[in-house]
Amino acid sequence: MEARRAACAALLVAAVAFAALPATTTANKFSINWQPNTNYTDWPAQHGPFYKDDWLVFYYTAGQADVIQVDEAGFNKCDATNAISNYSKGRNYAFQLNQTKTYYFICSYGYCFGGMRLAIKTEKLPPPSPPSSAKAKSAATAVAGSRAAGFLYAAVAVLAALLRMV
Ligand SMILES: *[C@@H]1O[C@H](CO)[C@@H](O)[C@H](O)[C@H]1NC(C)=O
Ligand SMILES: *[C@@H]1O[C@H](CO)[C@@H](O)[C@H](O)[C@H]1NC(C)=O
Repeated sequence: MEARRAACAALLVAAVAFAALPATTTANKFSINWQPNTNYTDWPAQHGPFYKDDWLVFYYTAGQADVIQVDEAGFNKCDATNAISNYSKGRNYAFQLNQTKTYYFICSYGYCFGGMRLAIKTEKLPPPSPPSSAKAKSAATAVAGSRAAGFLYAAVAVLAALLRMV
């Protein structure tokens, strides 16, 4: 009976944890291997789209590369003189794209001329599942409900299997 009670408790915990899962999509995190002698021109097209509030995480070797945020002119000329932000310590640098605009990054160690620069255009965050009409809302609820039902069904199956072993 002890095992049965434990299994019931486990099921309850799992169901609660599932119910607590956030329904909205969270910001994405994009990792970029920021290395000399690399041409990043096509990187955004290959990894995007990028939305406001996404994160860019530059992985680099300190002393071999830095991450300098510049404006468009600085990007075009590989010129870090008017740096907006400047990072060169540690092993990585996480940058949040918290506006809807084009962000420009370069490496100031000379590799920019070989393509070590990045222009990232962020798009507006799609509205989080808009309850524009009651119909859309009930459809969303139905989807969430069927997900929960599917989960509970699986959990009950597992529980039944556990109880058979007792
Ligand atoms: C970055 O900041 C450091 C320290 O403030 C400075 O020495 C360096 O020149 C800066 N680099 C660029 C490219 O702005
Ligand atoms: C980097 O790649 C782009 C497109 O693939 C190309 O147009 C550009 O000339 C390259 N830059 C360098 C410095 O090789």
